[in-house]
Amino acid sequence: MEKTLVLIKPDAFDKHYSGDIIKRYEQEGFRIVAMKLLKMDERLASIHYAEHIGRPYYQDLVGFMTSGPLIAMVLEGENAIARVREINGKTNPAEAAEGTIRKQFAASGRRNAVHASDSPASAKREISIFFSECEIYDGTYEIMG
Ligand code: PPS
Repeated sequence: MEKTLVLIKPDAFDKHYSGDIIKRYEQEGFRIVAMKLLKMDERLASIHYAEHIGRPYYQDLVGFMTSGPLIAMVLEGENAIARVREINGKTNPAEAAEGTIRKQFAASGRRNAVHASDSPASAKREISIFFSECEIYDGTYEIMG
């Protein structure tokens, strides 16, 4: 089992797509093991997007990601990192395959609805930015009573 960080970005949240996006991940068999709503500030953006600091699009990316609420969640499942990236589709929705989240919900490569970790190292780093250990459900899913 693998864990990955997903962000439902402010554009998708604002357009009320969050429920549909979450439903899609659940239908694909992933378990939500952590979830919160937050507003990213510039400091959090600079930590999460550290590798993009200095790139030409960085200020636009930060402006967008701090423009409204987003939902952060940790999804768990087999091969979750690669599978979630596949389900999300390419960064630019014009290049994203039919049936992907970005094809359905993203407006452009800049307002592209979702983020997901791109490697095991990124997933570990990004999950720890948004969630403390006690905010991640790591038990079994047997329902009591
Ligand atoms: S990816 O998914 O990491 O391979 O995508 P990449 O193309 O490397 O882009 C990294 C993130 O930067 C965002 N991006 C932009 N934002 C604003 N303006 C422009 N021009 C732009 N180009 C790329 C892109 O949405 C990626 O965000 P995340 O949150 O990682 O998906």
